[in-house]
Amino acid sequence: MKHAAKIRKKVTPAALADAEKFLLPTYKRQPLVFTRGRGTYVFDSNGKRYLDFLGGIAVNGLGHAHPNIVKVIRRESARAIHLSNLFHNEFQGPLAKKLAEISGMDRVFFSNSGAEAIEGCLKLARLYSRPADAPITFANPRHRILALEHSFHGRTFGAVSITATEKYRLPFAPLVPGVEFVKFNNIADLESKFDKNVCAVILETIQGEGGIHPVSEAFWNRARALTRQHDALLIADEIQCGLGRTGRYFAYQKFSSKPDLVAVAKPLAAGLPLGAILASEAIAARVSPGVHGTTFGGGPMICAVALEFLKVLDKTKVLANAAARGTELRAGIEKLAAKFPFIKEVRGEGLMIGVELAVDGSPFVAEAMNRGLLINCTHEFTLRLLPAFIITAKQVKEFLQIFEEVLGHVSKSMAATETARLAAHTAAR
Ligand SMILES: Cc1ncc(COP(=O)(O)O)c(C=O)c1O
Repeated sequence: MKHAAKIRKKVTPAALADAEKFLLPTYKRQPLVFTRGRGTYVFDSNGKRYLDFLGGIAVNGLGHAHPNIVKVIRRESARAIHLSNLFHNEFQGPLAKKLAEISGMDRVFFSNSGAEAIEGCLKLARLYSRPADAPITFANPRHRILALEHSFHGRTFGAVSITATEKYRLPFAPLVPGVEFVKFNNIADLESKFDKNVCAVILETIQGEGGIHPVSEAFWNRARALTRQHDALLIADEIQCGLGRTGRYFAYQKFSSKPDLVAVAKPLAAGLPLGAILASEAIAARVSPGVHGTTFGGGPMICAVALEFLKVLDKTKVLANAAARGTELRAGIEKLAAKFPFIKEVRGEGLMIGVELAVDGSPFVAEAMNRGLLINCTHEFTLRLLPAFIITAKQVKEFLQIFEEVLGHVSKSMAATETARLAAHTAAR
């Protein structure tokens, strides 16, 4: 291990320089190289330890280097990493069965990413919107898709077309036609925009990138009723909030009705890239060979890893842990909100928590990193917490202690800057 650390230290400056020179500059990255992780901690190339409350942006549900996952990857990578979807493999069927059982859905398609699962959902919605017994033509009046304001569904063309934030959309216009955005949780707006030409309503059950906003039960119920009435589809994007993060398998399981399509990805294969579309039988009945496909989705090794991920959730009370730790975390942050008035609101469920500030969140993220805590900020003002589902009560306490220090330190320096600004302003007069 010492030897590996030494080598990594040596390669780090070169790795950074190569990245600067050869990568497309799509990310504003921190000048940090992380080299390994263990449980809920990650380590940078200098050996500094960080409590990981970002979790690879909601991916590392079982943390890092979970022994069961490591074991399955070792075993299966020595057997078959990839075969082909022209054949069956040992794990795809059993994984589809397990996902159907825990979701209440009927059929599964495996993709490589969240965005690709969303693309598939959009295609299935358009496919389903056509009359079952008439020839397919280019014309299709029932092509309208309703998405929500502040939504985020991914970076591919269809996904970006149903993503509300302008900076993600505008550079690529014109986008997929027929998309309209409904005000968040606003039933009247949904009703006014719904008509017989809508083929789908798509929503994140809890919005992630938009700032951790749960869809209300009343809004869900109305969207469900309208889509049923018009034989349109209700699509739940559970890519960030699904598969255990809320303490339930799926965030929509707190409602009394199911969606028609569900998109999942992030934690599904414990860090390996795997997404899935979960569909009702009525939709599956419209699908025939050749209508959709992918090269990589659902390979043997990745499906074996996903099965192991779901087995660990089942067998080791991980869901109950996520719910209990989420409650502790929330209670601790609410206490801090009483002490720091610039905390405007604490939102979320289980281990998907947003702390909305009245001020820019980026200095808090930077200070947390200085103090060995990884968090991020979404929508400028909302600090987002997405720790692993296996986090312990002790680590929740550790987080709360560092977070309090961060809030105190940044607010003090903000106050000092403000005092200096006022002093300069007074002196200038
Ligand atoms: C709710 C939601 N949908 C879709 C996506 C896109 O997933 P991916 O980045 O795997 O394409 C994300 C990613 O952050 C997401 O949070």
